[in-house]
Amino acid sequence: MSRNRTTHNRLMRRAGVAVAAGALLTGVAVYGTASAAEESAAQPPSAQNQTLREAAQSSGRFVGTAIADHRLNDSTYTAIASREFSSVTAENEMKWESVEPNRGQYNWGGADRFIAFAQQNNQQTYGHTLVWHSQMPGWLENGNFSATELNQIMHDHIATYAGRYAGQIDRWDVVNEAFNEDGTFRNSKWLQVLGEDYIADAFRAARQADPNAKLFINDYNTDGINAKSNGMYQLVQRLQQQGVPIDGVGFQSHMILGQMPGDYQQNLQRFADLGLEVVVTELDIRMDMPSNSSKLEQQARQYTSVTEACLAVSRCSGITVWGFGDRDSWVPDWFEGQGAANLYDDNYQPKPAYYAMREAFGGDGDGGSNGGGDNGGGDNGGGDNGGTGGTDPVGDCSADLQINRWNAGSVVEVRVTSQQALNGWEVTFDLPSGSVTQSWNAEVSQSGNRVTARNLGYNGNIGAGGSLSFGFQTNSGDEYATPRVSLNGTACAGS
Ligand code: XIL
Repeated sequence: MSRNRTTHNRLMRRAGVAVAAGALLTGVAVYGTASAAEESAAQPPSAQNQTLREAAQSSGRFVGTAIADHRLNDSTYTAIASREFSSVTAENEMKWESVEPNRGQYNWGGADRFIAFAQQNNQQTYGHTLVWHSQMPGWLENGNFSATELNQIMHDHIATYAGRYAGQIDRWDVVNEAFNEDGTFRNSKWLQVLGEDYIADAFRAARQADPNAKLFINDYNTDGINAKSNGMYQLVQRLQQQGVPIDGVGFQSHMILGQMPGDYQQNLQRFADLGLEVVVTELDIRMDMPSNSSKLEQQARQYTSVTEACLAVSRCSGITVWGFGDRDSWVPDWFEGQGAANLYDDNYQPKPAYYAMREAFGGDGDGGSNGGGDNGGGDNGGGDNGGTGGTDPVGDCSADLQINRWNAGSVVEVRVTSQQALNGWEVTFDLPSGSVTQSWNAEVSQSGNRVTARNLGYNGNIGAGGSLSFGFQTNSGDEYATPRVSLNGTACAGS
């Protein structure tokens, strides 16, 4: 599989912008697909060796993974992909550059292999993607087309492609990544040449080509309630009012460790309240490398909270992870110094995140010897060499603040390590000035300069020697004195 350099650079820039802007990063009852019947025919899970797929099924959801075509010749890879997941998305093989490399000339090899794999394993299929600004073939990217011609090109592509696989795709990402971070439309070739209507047109063409597939719009950084997800929310309402056939919204959820939007579930719910299906389409949770046990535990908790959010929203039909093994992840190639974002480590051993997600779906949470790993071993599932990653606690707690200031604001990541186990926490400290504008992983309130952060439902329990973390953004760029942080009323050692 070749990686397209141009695309690579473009996406890198995009990722940089998202992070620099301090954007918060990054979700049905099962809707009538074949899976319910197929999976109820599967063996009832024994608690001991229940798979992720069985656990998700028991909660009425699908759990999916992106599939890398070039890994399908590895039996360890295919064993996990088929056993643990009930839905698949092609990581690259169903993008425009793969499918229609020359105008009117289609290459179905990768897409056919993908569909065959899903059918062999009774998996649902998520088609990714019909119209996107990225990973376009050169002729399309560089071509100078009139609106009429580009419209024709888009229609031909959708009719031929979605038509070919009609009946074999459960969900299509009809339009991918149509928004800027501020909620305006991305100035893609599609928007430039065709205007906003390309979106409605693409959905109509997709419905015509495959009346049975559920049609989705998908994006990243729309996971919390923010300018970008507001733009998405307004668009889908307009589309519904215009009678455009749209069935769902995909939330990519490429997340950063410790940056779970506090309003993630609320955001999924507001889209669900429009009568739409919602899906977490590309979940991964990346961290600064190297990983260690406390980061992996924190990551596990974040996978839990994403899963719990989906389960709390009845129209959230499932969660797809963007690959399952860290060794196959796109993250190290695209985000310098980051990695370990997936459920399995480099040796396909399940990480704490795997067990956490399985347990959150109502399955077995035991990290013992018979988990999802393929070599039968569970001895090094955590894949780390210990350490809390923080300063040594002095007294009961120690606090570590990472403060990023600019002239008009600050983003602060707070981490508190506690010697005692906690069952609920409250962290207080003073801001130099200004107020908190957004927060994640905690409920944050403010009175004067005093800020109080309380745990959310999923992150209140901290083991002895463990740490909690949350973050917030303010609207003041003033310098912080060494802030004094208290945990449940006790002053912590600073750092
Ligand atoms: C990524 C793939 O994982 C990489 O292998 C490829 O080089 C670039 O694209 N949003 C999307 C996905 O919708 O298609 C992207 O996948 C990740 C971001």
